[in-house]
Amino acid sequence: MRPKVILNCAASADGKISLPNRKQLAISNIEDFKRVHELRSECDAIIVGIGTILEDNPSLTVRNNSETKPIRIILDTHCRIPSDSKVLNGENKTIVAVGKDYKEKDLGNTEILECGDKEINLKQLLNIIGERGVKKVLVEGGETVMWSFLKEKLFDEYNVFFSSMIIGGVKTPTIAGGEGFQNEKSILNLKLNCVKQIGNGILAKYDRKEN
Ligand SMILES: NC(=O)c1ccc[n+]([C@@H]2O[C@H](COP(=O)([O-])OP(=O)(O)OC[C@H]3O[C@@H](n4cnc5c(N)ncnc54)[C@H](OP(=O)(O)O)[C@@H]3O)[C@@H](O)[C@H]2O)c1
Repeated sequence: MRPKVILNCAASADGKISLPNRKQLAISNIEDFKRVHELRSECDAIIVGIGTILEDNPSLTVRNNSETKPIRIILDTHCRIPSDSKVLNGENKTIVAVGKDYKEKDLGNTEILECGDKEINLKQLLNIIGERGVKKVLVEGGETVMWSFLKEKLFDEYNVFFSSMIIGGVKTPTIAGGEGFQNEKSILNLKLNCVKQIGNGILAKYDRKEN
């Protein structure tokens, strides 16, 4: 059985997730930041794409809670990850998921997991980690990875924190990138679970809709 998958991101009120030049900016407020770290502490693994590692260089650890150490999983078909990335600091276990033609690289004790061809096969990856005992996974972006999980309906919950700011820009990364659903029939409908005000922002929680 695949683990439970929670998608989470922070967006501006116009749905953007970074600056137009793809650089990170503080979109969450302190309360939402705490919520995300609590959510991380309840999960067995955190997944992000290599684009997020290259742009943001996150550590993907749980702040103020050294007890919980979710596995950090990076989707990186060609193994482009720089060896000085924070996720490779050995603080927590990290798995770099790669495709079959990846460029070999010395990543120290980091596990390199072959899982896919032209891109990482998400179903296969979830099954592998599920067999290893991972029960709950948090997917934290970026836009391409979010799109893949949504498109393949490989999620149970979808959480967006909408901050009270506008970023704008046609090329600015949005919550879901990729090619998008091309017609009305293929649009993904969600089930709204709840909406909650968090400081000067809104947390919207959706569930996958069976159809
Ligand atoms: N506000 C937020 O909550 C938030 C959170 C995270 C990131 N961000 C922002 O998002 C932007 C990065 O987004 P991004 O789209 O460039 O990068 P990304 O989604 O983090 O990573 C995308 C890359 O992952 C690899 N990948 C491998 N298998 C994949 C699969 N099955 N599906 C999707 N991707 C797969 C691909 O690269 P290869 O082909 O090389 O493997 C792909 O180009 C940055 O601007 C960052 O600041 C915002």
